[in-house]
Amino acid sequence: MSSETLSSTTDVKNLVHPYTNLGDHLNKGPMIIDRGEGIYIYDNHGKRYLEGMSGLWCTSLGFSEERLVNAAIAQFKKLPYYHLFNSRSNTPAIELSAKLLEIAPKNLSKILYANSGSEANDAAVKLVWFYHNAIGKPEKKKIISRLRGYHGVTVASGSLTGLPANHLHFDLPIDRILHTDCPSYYHGAESGESEEAFTQRLINNLEQLILKEGPETVGAFIAEPVMGAGGVIVPPEGYFEGVQKVLKKYDILFIVDEVICGFGRTGMMFGCDTFNLQPDIMSVAKALSSSYLPISATMISQAIYDKIAEQSDEVGVFAHGVTYSGHPICAAVALETIKIYQEDNIVAHVQEVAPHFQKRLHALASHPLVGESRGIGLIGAIELTQDKASKKPFDSSVKIEKRVQENVAKHGVLVRGIRNAIALCPPLIITIEQIDELFDSLEKGLDEVLEDIEKSAVSV
Ligand SMILES: Cc1ncc(COP(=O)(O)O)c(C=O)c1O
Repeated sequence: MSSETLSSTTDVKNLVHPYTNLGDHLNKGPMIIDRGEGIYIYDNHGKRYLEGMSGLWCTSLGFSEERLVNAAIAQFKKLPYYHLFNSRSNTPAIELSAKLLEIAPKNLSKILYANSGSEANDAAVKLVWFYHNAIGKPEKKKIISRLRGYHGVTVASGSLTGLPANHLHFDLPIDRILHTDCPSYYHGAESGESEEAFTQRLINNLEQLILKEGPETVGAFIAEPVMGAGGVIVPPEGYFEGVQKVLKKYDILFIVDEVICGFGRTGMMFGCDTFNLQPDIMSVAKALSSSYLPISATMISQAIYDKIAEQSDEVGVFAHGVTYSGHPICAAVALETIKIYQEDNIVAHVQEVAPHFQKRLHALASHPLVGESRGIGLIGAIELTQDKASKKPFDSSVKIEKRVQENVAKHGVLVRGIRNAIALCPPLIITIEQIDELFDSLEKGLDEVLEDIEKSAVSV
């Protein structure tokens, strides 16, 4: 069956498509993507789209980076698989680790590999638990995450995720996972509350939660520097400074989830650099390999490593790892990806084009359908509203974000509707002209949906 002869309604019925309304989808079928070139992809009918979301916030170098293909082929020929268990290792995993530590926040010094962001965060949870057992604080196990945070879907990381759909009917969250406020001033501010007062309230709430639970029971706090799947929430000024003070006060570890923000997305190499975060544990995935192959990493401080090493000596082994931890082909591609970031100075490129991206994004705030536009670096979102003054969202039956997403796609650009927001996260190699192409199509899509809504209001 060639890709042109695939029927999107009948031939895909054997798949379970994640984050898809499965009932709906059986009638209509998915958009089938066939090939990619630069920041563009083509569907199986040959229509071209600018990928305004880098797939799932991940293909930082676009869809046709030859160096990554060649790195994979070379490693395939040399050694297609070897593991890191039982005192064995492989060269790409060793070289990648040195490279990652060269660019990561300075206090991180050891790396544990897996395949996905979810597994990296699951490992972070297990390491927090193992560490607190090692230092004789077996009670200090609760982990605080945030509402709207997204950390994955496995049992522990799905519990950390603070979105109802990831919990409902899955029997999540598991115990010992707590959720505190989402730092969105737009969604969470009380009437008349200043941004500063809002931020302080959230920091106080976090401290109150810790005190209520007992600081001796709280082991870690996890956060994305900028929330991605929660709707691109950029924290207000002073938020992380206040949070980190509270964590230090109660001796609580800080896990920073850099799965989306890592590798230049926010305008610095890591979200930690942009927001001055000092992680004890940091998870990375996605842009680690520009998503050409699955690989993720949980990075930890030397202090944590030392205690874990001591404890595992006592057990005999450190009994955590997966078959594909540090897979040599994935590691070789990730290593090449970071070399490209360094040689092409991807951070400087983001800093050069991001002001234009943010200017076009913020210009949308005056559109009648937009309540807020927010972003940093090359990530952003617009919040759709039916009433700017009251910030009233559209009823879910209007499917506003889906309509915008589909109209924009008609104009050759893929964006992602998330609840009432439209998210943007293009490949980091995007040019100024392509940023204009993205926003021109987004504007057209928004105008058409507005016209549609106005028409239906008249006809009611
Ligand atoms: C911030 C963040 N953490 C973790 C994950 C989970 O990664 P994966 O889907 O590779 O398991 C995601 C996925 O979108 C993410 O955005």
